[in-house]
Amino acid sequence: MQFLETAVEIAREAGALTATYFERRVAIETKGEFDLVTEADRASEKLIVERLRTYFPSHAIVAEEGGGHEGCSEYRWFVDPLDGTTNFAHSFPMFCVTMGLERAGETIAGVVYDPIRQEVFTAERGAGAFLNNHRVRTSSIGKVADSLASTGFPSRKRHHNVNIHFYYQLAMASHGVRRTGSAALDLSYVASGRLDFFWEFGLKPWDMAAGALLVQEAGGRVSDMTGAPLSLTASDNILADNGALHGEILASFAEIFQGHERVPLPSL
Ligand code: IPD
Ligand code: CA
Ligand code: CA
Repeated sequence: MQFLETAVEIAREAGALTATYFERRVAIETKGEFDLVTEADRASEKLIVERLRTYFPSHAIVAEEGGGHEGCSEYRWFVDPLDGTTNFAHSFPMFCVTMGLERAGETIAGVVYDPIRQEVFTAERGAGAFLNNHRVRTSSIGKVADSLASTGFPSRKRHHNVNIHFYYQLAMASHGVRRTGSAALDLSYVASGRLDFFWEFGLKPWDMAAGALLVQEAGGRVSDMTGAPLSLTASDNILADNGALHGEILASFAEIFQGHERVPLPSL
């Protein structure tokens, strides 16, 4: 598909640009308390938006750093020019560029590019998920007790976030819960079977658009944390897993939402 091929080309170019900033270390700025941004986020977004506007002038663009475009067609791109900025700013090599394309409200294509490992994750609706052009599928782990998971914590309004309770309970119930610092890579890793499930509260559409499609196209399931269909723009949280774990995880989440602990907190 022409859209995906072009998106991959742009993501590779933007990823290579972020890698040059990564090598020479850039100054850290803050958008709000603990919410970091760097020159690399802005340069990557500028490049992506310019390219998308050249190739697809009628398409709308929603980009994290505000460089979007209104457009006048049913197509809309969600762009995260650098997902994993906190990692990036601290020279921790786990970040990516991600772009998802929606047509009339349905995500139809997505790319996640990790310039450090030179890994390109791609998906098109109905055509499968790929890592560097090789088909990938979600894992076949059938029990949370045998699984490896990942989650994330927002940089903004952390004290309002309840996720540490979910983290504790799921970490006790599984082989472990990683925190990679890049939601788009978390989702790509679920799609490629490196992780069995991922959840997070408060993500934005550009964090999830490509990754959610990747998981679905790799045979996994995506919903919100109550099991309702995921809306990129309206859901408060996301659960993405290999499909086999979906029911067990939702049952756990339902208990935690009700304040029931599966594993009691240790007494001191
Ligand atoms: C963040 C990353 C992180 C997630 C945060 C996101 P950013 O995106 O995806 O893993 O936990 O919620 O905001 O700010 O690095 O683009
Ligand atoms: Ca992000
Ligand atoms: Ca970002």
